[in-house]
Amino acid sequence: MAGGTFIMQIKSFHRAAALIAAFALAACGDGAPSAAPAVAAASAASTTGSSSTLSLAAQVGEKMFVDARLSGSGQLACASCHDPKNAHAPANDLAVQPGGADLKAAGTRAVPSLRYKDVTPPYADLLDNPDGISVPGPGGGFAWDGRAATLAEQARIPLLAANEMANADVAAVVAELKAGAYAELFRQAFGADVFADTDTAFAKAGLALQAYQLEDRSFHPYSSKYDLYAGNKIGGTLTPAEVRGFKVFADPQVGNCASCHYQGAGLNGSSALFTDFSYEAIGVPRNPAIPANADPAYVDTGLCGPLRSDHPPAAGNTFCGMVKAPTLRNVATRKSFFHNGVMHSLEQVIRFYNTRDTLPEIWYPTVGGKPKATPDAGFPSYGLVKTQYVGGKVKKYDDLPPQFVANIDTQMPLDGRKAHSAPPMSEQNMADLVCFLNTLTDGYQPPASAPSTSPCTQ
Ligand code: HEC
Ligand code: HEC
Repeated sequence: MAGGTFIMQIKSFHRAAALIAAFALAACGDGAPSAAPAVAAASAASTTGSSSTLSLAAQVGEKMFVDARLSGSGQLACASCHDPKNAHAPANDLAVQPGGADLKAAGTRAVPSLRYKDVTPPYADLLDNPDGISVPGPGGGFAWDGRAATLAEQARIPLLAANEMANADVAAVVAELKAGAYAELFRQAFGADVFADTDTAFAKAGLALQAYQLEDRSFHPYSSKYDLYAGNKIGGTLTPAEVRGFKVFADPQVGNCASCHYQGAGLNGSSALFTDFSYEAIGVPRNPAIPANADPAYVDTGLCGPLRSDHPPAAGNTFCGMVKAPTLRNVATRKSFFHNGVMHSLEQVIRFYNTRDTLPEIWYPTVGGKPKATPDAGFPSYGLVKTQYVGGKVKKYDDLPPQFVANIDTQMPLDGRKAHSAPPMSEQNMADLVCFLNTLTDGYQPPASAPSTSPCTQ
């Protein structure tokens, strides 16, 4: 991986330079044109979509999205897991959601938000990076492992998965659509004889859900404080804490978040998506709360399966362990983080980035040690492991088979520094970063007067 590491470092250096330039311009805040691209600004003004502006296909998709009849249990709709009131992600804090015919089967991955997915390109092993500078690498596609090329294709997965909507087959879904209240609308959208052929009708159902997600503004409202800021709009002045947090986010020597959660101008005229669609292995700890993980032989290696099969999980396969870097828009509204939902607060995630390497014992299990009766005064309580051990060995990267540990990314802030050395971010850096990430939440209403008590105002 030495060569790979070198390229990565060059890549993050170039990106950093570009980002700092963009940041410096954008941060002027004196009404001068911002370096931040204008797409977000233009859309910030528009409101949430209403059916009247949607194509017929999208109107069908809108109905399907909330239709629990389209599940084996009769109780699960897309919206049950992708709650429109919670940025199209679960409102509960479960790592994985229940599903299946009796709602007793469990998922194996955390549910992502469906927001800002409209310009996601199909997966490619060598996708050009939207920053226009970085070397091509695995990127694009839907789901944590990118296995669906389009939103239409993706819809097939939950409709048929035995642990999600659990329809017996394609015909069962089509039968529900044909017998349902909006069958006529379906015919209007896709042709009077659309139900004559089951596969055709099912394909159209996927296109309907895709059209809804692409057309309806609620999936990409660009209505966060950050959007006001990027568009130089009233109410978009970042507080000092948010400005500092943005610097931490973009600074390659500190947070370096922008290196993967890229916020510049991207593909297809997009901007500020807070992802570059790339895949990395960052060694997120195993989550015992996922029932599938009770079997030690079960391991989710992202690009190497088990849910996709074109990158065999064989030693030396550099794709294994890689997972999509998700958008960070609306990240402050999430209740479970990472592909396996192992963490439950933004602060915890940021602390993981900061101390995965310097305090591995609070993130990964220790084998062979003895629990300390009274933990040291300084032993942190924010990790996943609350017990301090004497002796034993920390099992770092416990959710990745040893032959894939070489695939772990080495960019800042996860640069593999020595245990118990100084972490990359200070307490202040992390607090500021949380403030900045909170500006990415949609539906922002500038307060009439600045609240004096918020920790993010100073
Ligand atoms: C039982 C919960 C559940 C239901 C119901 C559900 N999903 Fe999902 N959805 C998930 C999970 C979990 C993932 C991540 C899957 C993975 O990575 O393998 C996901 C991923 C997605 C993605 C990919 C997002 C991304 O970030 O790439 C889209 C799009 C999506 N779902 C749309 C839908 C649609 C449309 C429906 C209804 C037909 C639906 N989902 C129903 C749980 C659900
Ligand atoms: C080397 C690329 C890289 C860097 C640098 C990086 N991330 Fe990530 N980030 C990822 C990947 C990949 C995932 C998904 C990992 C997984 O689920 O296993 C992720 C996931 C996340 C999540 C979980 C989001 C969700 O929807 O569950 C948050 C929050 C996050 N990153 C914040 C940050 C912050 C803050 C920084 C900077 C301190 C940062 N990231 C730096 C690649 C990166």
